[in-house]
Amino acid sequence: MKKFLTLKKIFLPILIFIGLSQFIKIDKENEIVNSSLDFLSIESPTKEISKIIKNQCYDCHSDETKFPWYADIAPVSWWLKSNIDGARDFMNFSKWGLLTPKQKIAKMQECFEALQEEEMPVALYILMHDESQFTAKEGESLQEWFKNYNTPLN
Ligand code: HEC
Repeated sequence: MKKFLTLKKIFLPILIFIGLSQFIKIDKENEIVNSSLDFLSIESPTKEISKIIKNQCYDCHSDETKFPWYADIAPVSWWLKSNIDGARDFMNFSKWGLLTPKQKIAKMQECFEALQEEEMPVALYILMHDESQFTAKEGESLQEWFKNYNTPLN
């Protein structure tokens, strides 16, 4: 009886919290994309590289996020949203054209390093898209592409 009471004390508030949290929806509206600022239109990498970047990076680092089904379930949705906001703050491929050449080169260098250290795409992504795994070969060609990135400095 005592055990039951403690369980109730712990789980009931959790259930109530989860229940109520469903009323706080995240903003899933993507900003309208101006294709003249888009990374892939500006840099026009090969088809293969474009496909990898679009599949592996755009869901978080662009305004073309495709939200997974659990984006409607709080509090997971809040966590997801804060990750996407954080990712866009760092680098938004839909606003690539707003960066200076120096900033672009620095971002590409960081992308290279993130792949080399296997920091990106994050584990969360595997949750979002188990159907589109990043193969080792794709990872290598993307890494190579980031490494060789250059743009005129004016
Ligand atoms: C599931 C979402 C998600 C995906 C997919 C994703 N990123 Fe990120 N990325 C993030 C978040 C969140 C941060 C910010 C981390 C922080 O606040 O430190 C980030 C940060 C970064 C950084 C900054 C360096 C660092 O380690 O903090 C680089 C570089 C980066 N991402 C590159 C990429 C590249 C390249 C891809 C595609 C191969 C990619 N990301 C895919 C969520 C994602």
